[in-house]
Amino acid sequence: MGFLKTCVLRRNACTAVCFWRRQVVQKPSVRKISTTSPRSTVMPAWVIDKYGSNEVLRFTQNMMIPMIHYPNEVIIKVHAASINPIDVNMRSGYGATALNMKRDPLHIKIKGEEFPLTLGRDVSGVVMECGLDVRYFKPGDEVSHKPKSLTHAQAASLPYVALTAWSAINKIGGLHDKNCAGKRVLILGASGGVGTFAIQVMKAWDAHVTAVCSQDASELVRKLGADDVIDYKSGNMEEQLKYLKPFDFILDSVGGSTETWALNFLKKWSGATYVTLVTPFLLNMDRLGIADGMLQTGVTVGSKTLKHFWQGVHYRWAFFMASGPYLDDIAELVDAGKIQPVIEKTFPFSKVPEAFLKVERGHARGKTVVSVV
Ligand SMILES: NC(=O)c1ccc[n+]([C@@H]2O[C@H](COP(=O)([O-])OP(=O)(O)OC[C@H]3O[C@@H](n4cnc5c(N)ncnc54)[C@H](OP(=O)(O)O)[C@@H]3O)[C@@H](O)[C@H]2O)c1
Repeated sequence: MGFLKTCVLRRNACTAVCFWRRQVVQKPSVRKISTTSPRSTVMPAWVIDKYGSNEVLRFTQNMMIPMIHYPNEVIIKVHAASINPIDVNMRSGYGATALNMKRDPLHIKIKGEEFPLTLGRDVSGVVMECGLDVRYFKPGDEVSHKPKSLTHAQAASLPYVALTAWSAINKIGGLHDKNCAGKRVLILGASGGVGTFAIQVMKAWDAHVTAVCSQDASELVRKLGADDVIDYKSGNMEEQLKYLKPFDFILDSVGGSTETWALNFLKKWSGATYVTLVTPFLLNMDRLGIADGMLQTGVTVGSKTLKHFWQGVHYRWAFFMASGPYLDDIAELVDAGKIQPVIEKTFPFSKVPEAFLKVERGHARGKTVVSVV
């Protein structure tokens, strides 16, 4: 987690995630690519030098600030960041195989050359410098484009969970503001970062929302608009759900054993869809390598999809999907008062390891944010 990030600013890319820079297949340009000359200063940052438990987080005052490498990148001064479960998992090495491939598709670097590694993906800040092809942003802009009604800390809590929920609900689930009215939606893991956002977007689109969470989170999810709330700790889930009408859509951000029973509560033969966010995609690659991991993933998702298809329901996996236009749609809903950020706790930059521990302990009630500036 550093003060500055380099981000790709294609209109269809999430501007908050520095790793996406490596995704762009472009030859480095020989012409001048940025509005200003590269700076040769350093910045404070939290980095890791190896994967492991929270002790591997190290503070440095001397991280080189990023430079613009491609003309469609910008440099953002980070004012606030939020931490997601994947950041904690990546600290421990989760997803390293796939992410190293993304950073270094030709495998030129030797193992371990990703260090010192700066973790984190969600930021809100101010554009400091733009590549020469950047049209949609200019130095001084609050990104990406930040909802006007929010502080940087509030804005930083949204992009990753919002774009993940949006991908699951809209891209994979096919739901949108015009076809959602009255649809019955079940959200598993409703009290976390993704769940608290998903409830609100579903209610903004007039769906009927049943939220599954712990009892102590029921007031929170009702305030966000949930129509029915089920405490998953108060008894057998299947017993509790069988008295409710079947669902058109299930968003699962819990995973594990949930998919052995959740699909039984979808309407049959009506296009109803179960979407899970908890998949073995990155783990398979860590364990089996890129090719075998992808093969295993394809076989697993293919066989599950087919099995449920013959039972009259759709089974799908969803992933975070970078999208500038979606972020703009989300910003509109926020500025219209239909979605509010749910921040459980804010830590100062000096306490980043405590923020990681908070997320690692689980039981989130919304998001954990780090205030940087
Ligand atoms: N596929 C992707 O691209 C993608 C993207 C983002 C997130 N994810 C995954 O999605 C999951 C959720 O992410 P998140 O950011 O929302 O996590 P989070 O903020 O940690 O929230 C998880 C929530 O689930 C609750 N919970 C735990 N067990 C539950 C159960 N059996 N039934 C109902 N609720 C339960 C937790 O509270 P209690 O334990 O107190 O009940 C917590 O509020 C994570 O596993 C994450 O890795 C995947």
